[in-house]
Amino acid sequence: MLKVLVLGSGAGGGSPQWNCNSDVSKAVRGGEPGTSPRTQSSIVVTANEDEWFLFNASPDLGSQILKNKQMHPKKDPRHSPISGVVLTNGDVDHVAGLLTLRERQNLSIYAHQRVHSVLKENSIFNVLNPDFVDRRELTMNKEFELMNKDNRGVGLLVEAFAVPGKIALWLEDESKGDNFGSDDGDTIGLKITSKDDNKSFFYIPACARMTNELSEKLSGSEMVLFDGTLWENEEMASSKVGEKTGQRMGHMNNSGPDGSIEAFKKIDVKRKIFIHINTTNPILLGKSDERTFVEENGWQVSYDGMEINL
Ligand code: MLT
Ligand code: MN
Repeated sequence: MLKVLVLGSGAGGGSPQWNCNSDVSKAVRGGEPGTSPRTQSSIVVTANEDEWFLFNASPDLGSQILKNKQMHPKKDPRHSPISGVVLTNGDVDHVAGLLTLRERQNLSIYAHQRVHSVLKENSIFNVLNPDFVDRRELTMNKEFELMNKDNRGVGLLVEAFAVPGKIALWLEDESKGDNFGSDDGDTIGLKITSKDDNKSFFYIPACARMTNELSEKLSGSEMVLFDGTLWENEEMASSKVGEKTGQRMGHMNNSGPDGSIEAFKKIDVKRKIFIHINTTNPILLGKSDERTFVEENGWQVSYDGMEINL
């Protein structure tokens, strides 16, 4: 078995975002049918129902754990079904939740060396007591089994690979030119496979563009959870909430000739699901033309609490 639970389907800030009064945030606050609140992007995966691995730790992790009974302690006096964490980048929406995982719980944290080094530089992450929390380098381009803190496999195999993207917003360095100091490994995609029955899917919550290499990798796959941040590149400006384009933020838009919907038309993937969706994106409105278009093109829009069994 391979089970996925979406803890958070929103992008950085969630939906509604605390200071945002654009169409989607307003509709969600107003309880408009077909809309729902979305916390910041994170999934948990298990191959045995008991031991789960967290993929990205969002600032909303505390409430996400509370909301999903699968994540509650099962033994007295302390326990967590979460054996460890894998990080796909250093974004605030993907690492701030690590601070919620303090309190002497055995965990293994896998991340690229680039991400580990920024966690190390930020001493607030020392709340993760090294007696209990192992920080492990994520092996790239080679499948390996995720291990708990005691080095026992949890039945999940992972292959990590770099995808087009950029360094986390809070680490951008303008003196380093056009890419703000980004390097390979700042944005990672994952193939996650159950060791027992070989079921697998891809988790790619950030991706700046489709490449031939990525398209070949995804071809023939059962399911892809993919960067759904923006409907169109200029959306932040047209929603009057910012100036940055999707490309500037390292996100490929859903629509248009250079968008993900078009790109995936040429790739054989059985189930395509958008995740990490920004509160400006009209696909979050249950009755929008954009939502209809997405669904007509074979995509699903993930939501908090979505369960997927492969
Ligand atoms: C992103 O996905 O682009 C970031 O999460 C943006 C941010 O840090 O707010
Ligand atoms: Mn993000």
